[in-house]
Amino acid sequence: MPVQKLTVNGQRVEVDVEDDVRLLWVLRDLLDITGPKYGCGLSICQSCTSLVNGKAFNPCSVPVGQLRPSDEVVTIEGLADAVDGDGLHPVQEVWLEEDVAQCGFCQPGQIMAAVDLIQTLLADGRRDVTEAELDSLRNVCRCGTYPRVRTAIRRALAVMAETPVFVRGAGR
Ligand code: FES
Ligand code: FES
Repeated sequence: MPVQKLTVNGQRVEVDVEDDVRLLWVLRDLLDITGPKYGCGLSICQSCTSLVNGKAFNPCSVPVGQLRPSDEVVTIEGLADAVDGDGLHPVQEVWLEEDVAQCGFCQPGQIMAAVDLIQTLLADGRRDVTEAELDSLRNVCRCGTYPRVRTAIRRALAVMAETPVFVRGAGR
């Protein structure tokens, strides 16, 4: 079986698994990284959303063999450590202050999608977010936290516009 060399949450890891096994199963079943949730397995629900080189992606739909060892995969477990500074990522801080989560199942994916959107806006010199851009986030929430997600993204954007924060690997 081929050895897959990956960088996950800043750690170099090796796993014995076939190239076509999707990354979500490698994370959850082989590396015990369970923050990215399994919802649909079809790149629809977005509950597995994580970052690769700073951009949101769905590991349920990416064969592990497509990743390069140098690609920086960041899951919710590694988000705080993927930026400079102590404590949580600013988006996580705002999420707690706004009490966004209900059951929590979708929330790792919601946060990672928000991080990507805010980083993209900041890289374009933006300090605002449109309704259409918020609508572009397609993370499904069974608990209906959408209004609080939108409020938290606006607040986190304001915070990060003052002190921009980019996760490791962003902009590659
Ligand atoms: S489990 Fe990955 S998008 Fe639904
Ligand atoms: S908080 Fe329960 S699914 Fe979103």
